[in-house]
Amino acid sequence: MTAGHQYLRSQSPTSLRLSDNQLAYHVRRVIVGAVALGDWATGIRNERGAWGASPCSLKTCTVLVVRARGRKSIVPASLEAVRPIELAEIQEARRRIAQTIMRTPLVRLELGPGYPDIRLKLENLQPINAYKLRGAANAVAMLSESERKCGVWTISAGNAGQGVAYAARRAGVPCTVVVIETAPASKIERMEALGARLVAVPWEVAWKALDERSFPGVEGTFVHPFDDHNFIAGHGTMGLEILEDAPDTVAIIAGIGGGGLITGVGSAIKSLKPEIKMWGAEPETAAPAALSFAMGSPQVFPGWKPSFVDGAGGQSLFPRMWERMKPLVDGCIVVTLEQTKQAMRLMAEKARVISEGAGALPLAAGLTGRAGQGPIVAIVSGGNIDLKKFCEILESTTRSTSP
Ligand SMILES: Cc1ncc(COP(=O)(O)O)c(C=O)c1O
Repeated sequence: MTAGHQYLRSQSPTSLRLSDNQLAYHVRRVIVGAVALGDWATGIRNERGAWGASPCSLKTCTVLVVRARGRKSIVPASLEAVRPIELAEIQEARRRIAQTIMRTPLVRLELGPGYPDIRLKLENLQPINAYKLRGAANAVAMLSESERKCGVWTISAGNAGQGVAYAARRAGVPCTVVVIETAPASKIERMEALGARLVAVPWEVAWKALDERSFPGVEGTFVHPFDDHNFIAGHGTMGLEILEDAPDTVAIIAGIGGGGLITGVGSAIKSLKPEIKMWGAEPETAAPAALSFAMGSPQVFPGWKPSFVDGAGGQSLFPRMWERMKPLVDGCIVVTLEQTKQAMRLMAEKARVISEGAGALPLAAGLTGRAGQGPIVAIVSGGNIDLKKFCEILESTTRSTSP
């Protein structure tokens, strides 16, 4: 008998009173046990009968072990299975977040003849200067009263943290952000100003916590910054605005980190105008989505390197996000850091726009010509960059060659 088998036997079925940390521990052990056996589906229910970690500390839980022969892949029972985001859910999200977000402008980038027709979707103008507010506002608004009461927490490179903190402050609930310790000072200061408690961790630790959906010592209701149906539905609202403002669009390019942005916008676009191509953009130093599309399965990116593109470019593509993105994304374009810097400079020169690195990936990708001649919408997903760093980047790169 394997250790996993023994563990499952010892817990099946029984009643326990558990703290959040104990609950997370038991969820992990049950899953490890199930993986060891290869043919068991498992889960933990709280006293309300809901699967998964319940929001407040100390509760009665029933550990259930259900035999399901032949099932080799174990999806934690605490997670809702991935399902498509319906157009109606995006339309409802639009009404729900209308008073919180800005309906951002779509402006044409004047590049002159010989360049693709590119329009910039200026999400850097959102109240938190990044698109993440759309998803965060929708996800927090859709939590139950009891989930909200326990406070919320998220994991972030800085923009999701601002979005969740902003939405939490509006809802009058406390917020904790497990933040990547190298996040720019501007992002850290903004989260603090929004009243968030910050727990700084290295990049690898944050990425692992995103996968495990838990972090020791942090309690409350977890709002995942990309693998969350309601969060993604909130991003979908941007797709509706793009179609209203530029019905002649032939391609849309979005930066990819975890994949929530492109999934949200792609869900709206593919339901209403499936002929529009959805492209992802990643930096050469962190391009797991491009690798995954090339290999036909979710991949870890070998040789991942941090860079000034701190909002996008993950270490791996999570299998659940692959499942979400695969039907919606037509391809990925990888750009160099130099091309990204040039795109930042071009936007500053031609449109007087301040974009962070991740926000400039789509323009850099559009300028490669791989997404065609347009009209292309490049999503300028954020503008949260320390101004000193922004100036250094502009000075370090050559003047744009376009007229
Ligand atoms: C500015 C910006 N652009 C793009 C992304 C990538 O979004 P996603 O993780 O939803 O793929 C992020 C993620 O935080 C971001 O902050």
